[in-house]
Amino acid sequence: MAYNLKGRHFLKLLDFTAEEIQFLLDLSADLKKLKYAGIRPRNMEGKNVALIFEKPSTRTRCAFVVAAVDEGAHPEYLGKNDIQLGKKESVADTARVLGRMFDGIEFRGFKHETVEELAKHAGVPVWNGLTDQFHPTQILADFLTIIEQKGRLKGIKFAYCGDGRNNMANSLMIGSAKMGLDFRIVAPAGLFPDKELVRQAEEMAAESGGSITLTEDVSKGVKDVDVIYTDVWVSMGEEEQFAHRVDMLKPYQVNSDMLKMAAPDVTFLHCLPAFHNRETEVGEDVYQKYGVGEMEVTEEVFEGPHSKVFDQAENRMHTIKAVMVATIGK
Ligand code: CP
Ligand code: NVA
Repeated sequence: MAYNLKGRHFLKLLDFTAEEIQFLLDLSADLKKLKYAGIRPRNMEGKNVALIFEKPSTRTRCAFVVAAVDEGAHPEYLGKNDIQLGKKESVADTARVLGRMFDGIEFRGFKHETVEELAKHAGVPVWNGLTDQFHPTQILADFLTIIEQKGRLKGIKFAYCGDGRNNMANSLMIGSAKMGLDFRIVAPAGLFPDKELVRQAEEMAAESGGSITLTEDVSKGVKDVDVIYTDVWVSMGEEEQFAHRVDMLKPYQVNSDMLKMAAPDVTFLHCLPAFHNRETEVGEDVYQKYGVGEMEVTEEVFEGPHSKVFDQAENRMHTIKAVMVATIGK
């Protein structure tokens, strides 16, 4: 079934129906097949897209750039020191200026309110490339990867382990509630998601046939699950939290003992970047300070046969392409 999403913003999954999300996933799979076949439909010929990044990015930035170029559009990267956004020019004024020149605007940044404010004033579709509350384009890539691995979303037993109240946990919970997954947050109670968001998720899960469980108990949370997902213990902008989080989240590390509790063909996913060894400056620093050389996932699991994290990373591009084609394509 096709849904007309032309002119729509993509700010959070709460704004979309299950059918619209499924449409974006189907379109992503179609665009992926076309790219593999060497067919370039150039659905965005002559369009220009602005990519605003207040925070660093590898996958999201590159996915937007490659997807735009594949479809014939021009992407313009606007880093945090390139424009005045919020410093010498209000978000509303910047939005109105960019909206006069560009056909769509991506925003990655700190406050979710900023992306909502951009959307209110831009007059063209605005896409959320990650805020403190939500990371909706990531969830499309995650779901496409699950469909590729398991053939479906409905009824999939999904455990998210770690920081249960960050942008990834929030977005996965909402996406799972809409699409009918058996979704579990496996985290210390101090890091459970916001109560109102959980209430909304439970309401949507009741409609879709899914379920939402919050548990501190790892063995209960990951028992027989089809998918184990984790994210960094400390998100961008919260760097002062390391000491506290390492202590709190060590029992929720995804390791081979945890995998043994899941279904034998469990898929491991991570939005990346990941701290699975000491080969990063931050990873080494955390090791020197707290004696933890692998954080949210061990090297063994990350590099092991259950890990599909690089399929998932590639799918960022196909799914972001679908979001742009659906909202501003010809
Ligand atoms: N997963 C993700 O958003 O990665 P980047 O921070 O590299 O964009
Ligand atoms: N929760 C992470 C996601 C990175 C893609 C962060 O916000 O830093």
